[in-house]
Amino acid sequence: MSTIAVLPGDGIGPEVTRVAVEILRRVRPQDTHGEYLVGGAAYERHGTPIPDETKAGVERSDAVLFGAVGGPQWDGDRVPRDLRPEAALLFLRTHFELFANIRPVRVFPGLEDASTLKREVVEGLDLVVVRELTGGVYFAKPKEYGERDGIPYALDTMLYRKPEIVRILRVGFEIARTRRKLLHSVDKQNALETSRLWRKTAMEVAADYPDVSLKHVLVDNAAMQLVRNPKQFDVIVTENMFGDILSDEAAMLGGSIGNCASASLGRGGEPGRRFGLYEPISGSAPDIAGQNLANPTAAILSAAMLCRQSLDDAAAAERIERAVEAAFASGARTRDLAAAGAAYLSTTAFGEAVAARL
Ligand code: IPM
Ligand code: MN
Repeated sequence: MSTIAVLPGDGIGPEVTRVAVEILRRVRPQDTHGEYLVGGAAYERHGTPIPDETKAGVERSDAVLFGAVGGPQWDGDRVPRDLRPEAALLFLRTHFELFANIRPVRVFPGLEDASTLKREVVEGLDLVVVRELTGGVYFAKPKEYGERDGIPYALDTMLYRKPEIVRILRVGFEIARTRRKLLHSVDKQNALETSRLWRKTAMEVAADYPDVSLKHVLVDNAAMQLVRNPKQFDVIVTENMFGDILSDEAAMLGGSIGNCASASLGRGGEPGRRFGLYEPISGSAPDIAGQNLANPTAAILSAAMLCRQSLDDAAAAERIERAVEAAFASGARTRDLAAAGAAYLSTTAFGEAVAARL
């Protein structure tokens, strides 16, 4: 029996998370699910995006199933930066040192024509973006937003220490080892000092993985290659902000960002029994929130990753993944995946289509 903290959050978060929890209950009736407020929803109730009760619930859990945070009502200068919905997610990532963000992208059989790219470019695509999640420009100090000599200015700092680079590269190499043994390390070493250190470190770490072939790509070229010929990639490892951007781009190769799950893992723990946070990469999609239109696939597949990585239950993970594949193969589509003018299923109906195939 395991304890899962469920943090639905904002926008489409609650509706897609509800579907994922329903699927989890079916494959693992033995677990308990405790639901907690996070993000804007928590801010409205308690004046903070991550209340103590939520922190305590997460501390007690074996894994976190996260929905999404953020929305236009909390954007701009309306809410202080450290109380914005996104601050909750950044807090959880740093507090639990969830430095390894794993974002698989697949083109599911039957969905080849959902992509904006040509079928032959994406057919059979299967890649993983490994994103560093607790360092780089998101977190380094100084961070300033103010006015100097009457002129508004803003400052972010990009900083990496070698051990942070080594550990995420190792995650990339380890995953590459279980797949095509091909690792693309993405940097911007022609312009950034952090990237010079990144590339040098990648070459050093590669010595421990002689069975994996390592390629270096500049981030602008990587963005271009992802739409030119995405199947040349198998595992991509990169720093925090590059990974944020490239994973959204890569996600669309599969037809919709609504299909893309993620796992955020830390140090320690037995393989398969690591504490982790699992979330769709798509965000809160406020434009379609509350209308039963969102694609719950990313949330469902995040639940599968949770079973595999935190509950040591690969069988449950596979059951869920096979059911999603079978639903797509049978023609089930949410609005984001349906051809123009074609019929599509609601969030809950798609969830039922998957549940029926477990
Ligand atoms: C993501 C999101 C977050 C990020 C935001 C909400 C801060 O875009 O998980 O990719 O940039 O990391
Ligand atoms: Mn993002």
